[in-house]
Amino acid sequence: MDSIHIYGGNLLRGETKIQGSKNAVLPILAATLLIKGTCVIRNCPRIADVYHMQNLLQELGCPVSWAGNTVTVNASRVCDNRMSGESVTRMRSSIMLLGAMLGRMGEAVMSYPGGCVIGRRPIDIHLAALRKMGVEIVEEDQMFTARALHLQGTEERLPFPSVGATENVILAAVLADGMTVLENAAKEPEITALCDFLVEAGADIEGIGSGRLMIKGVDKLHEVKYTVPADRIVAGTYMTAAMAAGGSIFLEHAPAGQLGALLKAAQEMGCCVTLNKEGIGIDVLRRLHALPYLRTEVYDGFPTDLQSPMMVVLALAEGEGIVEENIFENRFRVVDGLRKMGADIETVKNKAYIRGVEKLKGTMVEAEELRGGAALVVAGLAAEGRTMIKNRHFIERGYENICKDLRELGADISIG
Ligand code: EPZ
Repeated sequence: MDSIHIYGGNLLRGETKIQGSKNAVLPILAATLLIKGTCVIRNCPRIADVYHMQNLLQELGCPVSWAGNTVTVNASRVCDNRMSGESVTRMRSSIMLLGAMLGRMGEAVMSYPGGCVIGRRPIDIHLAALRKMGVEIVEEDQMFTARALHLQGTEERLPFPSVGATENVILAAVLADGMTVLENAAKEPEITALCDFLVEAGADIEGIGSGRLMIKGVDKLHEVKYTVPADRIVAGTYMTAAMAAGGSIFLEHAPAGQLGALLKAAQEMGCCVTLNKEGIGIDVLRRLHALPYLRTEVYDGFPTDLQSPMMVVLALAEGEGIVEENIFENRFRVVDGLRKMGADIETVKNKAYIRGVEKLKGTMVEAEELRGGAALVVAGLAAEGRTMIKNRHFIERGYENICKDLRELGADISIG
């Protein structure tokens, strides 16, 4: 069965290691296309989205192999510049290959990635930014061809700090002619990881970590061995598990420096947080106080990817609060499942009005997407009795071993 079974109510105790970052490794795997040689990527999470990116690279002619959590990509020869519609629509992150294919071959043929349950997720910002670098885009039905015999450096400002659009501009700019100055670039840690990888390969990028990137095109990049940083969203998800179920846990490798907004909220709600260079400890010894208002924002505001798991924490806190989702237009899908478990949540447009309840009750619920599915796991850990979560595959897109990790933290959880 494609499900997860939880017997809730245990306080969480123990420690677990945080996996490598999904949203850092996906653009980095795309970036290997720019390097005529072999790259070794360590601490790569074994998750569905990474396997899908591996298939895309192999479709383009690049052998990819695994040893444990280490992936080796050989992009010495790239024999195609087309990506099949099914490949692209199955995983949106394939759009990140666009910038890399333009940088490597000067042309890419792919379909529009399409939306998903959390939003329409257009790519207009990507395409407009690439056009400013001399890319010609011809649309044909559901496919489009992007072509640039010579990518030109440019000065431009994104209308919104889109993570994916920033990544595509970076991937197109590192081998372009001249300097690219990108204003209002996304500042998520995954952008920094991509830039660090590319600089390691010989790229010339300044302003890393800021909203203003200066990328001077170089002639070529060389082979790299790189270790993927820990996944801040997985670490944040496990923090919300302790905040919802109670207990005392330690998350090894959790990147405290990238979780400021969640750490601040946790302390405001009454959690005791300890930070050191090994990771994050969190103690939740009594019912938490509600947060009056929580809004999701671009980095380093509260991350949209932790909004659903945090909704569970707020649903169990003492008092009332409002969650405002500002990044995706349809990211309250998990509310129906939480209400089925006894949560008191009303949604109006992009706001969720939450009245904390003492307990949730286990029942059967269905995951509809990655982070909403993770939130249902968090809810099951806190709920009385049994919870069965269907569509485990959505959760496995981003969490390498969520059941093993949470068992290490004392949860009664198994796959079904
Ligand atoms: C990345 O998606 C992440 N995915 C998302 O994580 C994350 O939620 C998001 O950034 C925001 O932090 C990966 O890194 C693989 P955006 P991305 O471009 O690049 C609109 C997860 O759960 N937009 O910053 O698609 C868009 O519709 C996933 O791990 C346009 O309108 O995010 C959205 O409303 C979910 N036009 C907003 O901007 C464009 O051309 C943010 O999108 C591009 C984006």
